[in-house]
Amino acid sequence: MADDLDAALDRAADALRSARKVVVLTGAGVSAESGVPTFRASDGLWEGHRIEEVATPFGFRRDPQLVWQFYNARRANVSKVAPNPGHYALAKLEQRWGEDFMVVTQNVDGLHRAAGSRNVLEIHGSLHRTRCTGCGEIEDRGLEPLGELPACPRCAELLRPDIVWFHEPLPAAVWGAAQLASHECDVLLVVGTSAVVYPAADLIPIAKGDRGLKPVPGTVVEFNLTRTEASVLADVGVYGPSGQTLPKVCERLGL
Ligand code: OAD
Repeated sequence: MADDLDAALDRAADALRSARKVVVLTGAGVSAESGVPTFRASDGLWEGHRIEEVATPFGFRRDPQLVWQFYNARRANVSKVAPNPGHYALAKLEQRWGEDFMVVTQNVDGLHRAAGSRNVLEIHGSLHRTRCTGCGEIEDRGLEPLGELPACPRCAELLRPDIVWFHEPLPAAVWGAAQLASHECDVLLVVGTSAVVYPAADLIPIAKGDRGLKPVPGTVVEFNLTRTEASVLADVGVYGPSGQTLPKVCERLGL
């Protein structure tokens, strides 16, 4: 088994060595070793909460207080955690590729930026930001407690978390940039995601060139504890905790 992992890490490093443009799609698993719960594990967030109640526009209309309790608890949890070696490894890879390296994250915890990644697209929003249901103003409020029904300081209407809920579209500019980067990349690293939520998971076939013309298909490398929906499209599978495997890739690249 150790031999398999070493061989996969070698293949991942080889793919990166010859890549001009690199995109990383991350999910909750990259933050698991920081102490942020994932969604679909047996002790995950979606086991303890009903998606319709806390992560849909209808749920918010029905009971905004319940929704704010859920997000305030997540904000409080994230305020206590720190990036792990997986986040730092991705920030180190960005230093090597510069503008040609992009993290597209489904996570709302802000840990990629906290680790030093700069080229980050948060396609599902951020726990740090609020959006006004009246005037639409988006504001970064950090992770300070916000109260049960926070009001907009400008228009006094109810604020909501700036998070993409189920049945809502992704922010158009951010999603467009993620699609373009995936279309142009030579390597896509898929880290810590079950790859079951769309359209995020579409970035994998886009990187492979399965959703349109791409002269040379991108190489997809999956980093996860287990095989996922993404595995059939992955050229390389690196199975182990990403807080351990991503730093090993950096070592192999001499970073
Ligand atoms: P999931 O909870 O669906 O999947 C987490 C993945 O991380 C699983 O495949 C685990 O095997 C893997 N994993 C766990 N620990 C890991 C570790 N230490 N190293 C590597 N992999 C590990 O979370 P996401 O795929 O992020 O959307 O879920 C996608 C979206 O569904 C979320 O952004 C959220 C949710 O509904 C919204 O809230 C809009």
